[in-house]
Amino acid sequence: MGEPGSRSTLRWALAAIVFSTASVEAAEPEAGELLYRRYCAACHGVGGRGDGPAAGALCPPPTDLTRLERDERELMALIDGRRPVRAHGSSAMPIWGVVFEESLIGEPHARRTALLRLQTLARYVQALRARTPDGSNRSPAEP
Ligand code: HEC
Repeated sequence: MGEPGSRSTLRWALAAIVFSTASVEAAEPEAGELLYRRYCAACHGVGGRGDGPAAGALCPPPTDLTRLERDERELMALIDGRRPVRAHGSSAMPIWGVVFEESLIGEPHARRTALLRLQTLARYVQALRARTPDGSNRSPAEP
């Protein structure tokens, strides 16, 4: 306070912009949310309850992710979808492991980036569960 200049205001505004841009790249929660909203929310819903706009057309319906008791590795495998870890052979869900790798063809570390996306998404899905409002869940080990 007391600083009269519009210059310091400008500096703060710039800092805010730079910082918020950087955090999209670096901070995991935001990255997870971006990926989730882009690839998953249409079916599973923004909150993960299986009530996305496309859900009604799907059989079986999208899983309520807030009620899924899976650890990170299991979630990664489920989302990847290439190994038969799901209950039934056929699925209305895209095989994300393949989708991600194909979308990254030609990039230097396609495999690793795809794996990282799976991990980021798995962690985001776990966070969705921790957030259930009914309070009935034991929160998973959080730092
Ligand atoms: C086109 C619709 C659709 C999209 C998009 C979608 N899913 Fe699914 N998902 C489903 C359906 C339907 C199921 C129900 C079980 C099945 O068919 O395998 C499911 C099941 C799941 C399961 C549980 C599998 C199990 O057997 O317990 C997880 C975890 C999951 N989805 C995560 C994701 C994530 C993460 C994304 C985004 C990368 C995503 N889904 C995008 C339709 C979708």
